[in-house]
Amino acid sequence: MSTFQLDTSTSRANPTPQPMRRLTVPKIRQRKVDGVTAEPIVMLTAYTARQAQLLDAHCDVLLIGDSLGQVIYGLPSTVPVTLDMMANHAAAVVRGSYHALVVVDMPFGSYESSKEQAFTSAARVLKETGCGAIKLEGGRRMAETIRFLVERGVPVMAHVGLTPQSINTIGSFRAQGREESDWARIEDDALAVSEAGAFSLVIEAVAEPLARKLTEAVPIPTIGIGASAACDGQVLVLEDMLGLSPRVPKFVKRYGDLGPGIEKAVAGYAAEVRARTFPAPEHTYPMKAKKS
Ligand code: KIV
Repeated sequence: MSTFQLDTSTSRANPTPQPMRRLTVPKIRQRKVDGVTAEPIVMLTAYTARQAQLLDAHCDVLLIGDSLGQVIYGLPSTVPVTLDMMANHAAAVVRGSYHALVVVDMPFGSYESSKEQAFTSAARVLKETGCGAIKLEGGRRMAETIRFLVERGVPVMAHVGLTPQSINTIGSFRAQGREESDWARIEDDALAVSEAGAFSLVIEAVAEPLARKLTEAVPIPTIGIGASAACDGQVLVLEDMLGLSPRVPKFVKRYGDLGPGIEKAVAGYAAEVRARTFPAPEHTYPMKAKKS
């Protein structure tokens, strides 16, 4: 159940003093005109309100990815992630942002069994979080569901190529489309979700020539992760690009190296607490002066 009030004009739970209008699904869709995206789409994952505040001005889309299973909860894959987890983190990200379109991943088990199940789960996420769209994994097998959702007011970002929620059937997180014999299936997936009404398409871990072919084949913007610069936009997992993840896939560029900085700060704190040099007088409340 929702625990906050939504400001419906801004979709923010706690409106800023000067709220701007958020980027909308149509605005993101319209970035690609006649197969050309003049301004690439910038997307990052965000899981907390503070992350959202820091990212919002720089990003077009904030994704509450189900990668939070591994990144935040230390789970072995995205499979155990629940709708409650997604809704709680998504509401925090909406509260921390006012510019970017917020998109929420539908977790494994919340949308696959029927289009009605998908609508019920998606409606809950839209109502409880104030996000602007949902994302779900799968190509042709999800096309009918995507059409059902879009016709009922749920904007859908699709996701093809490597689909991590299928880890138990695919066996490993390996790149897709590195042999041309795989291309027709993945292209069929991309065309099916686009024709069904998805407004954009995440392409994960595919070889560059295939990413280029898919991007040329569909009229909607493609957003790559490990799918080369041929896509219409890019997404990375925030912790990976900040240097906070212990291991990252080959396609990640580390734009920061925050892990050692955090360790250094924590080691300094621990040493000063043990030496009783923190808190110092400047961190300590003095008594109020006595009134005479
Ligand atoms: O869960 C996630 O973070 C994602 C991105 C990798 C696209 O789906």
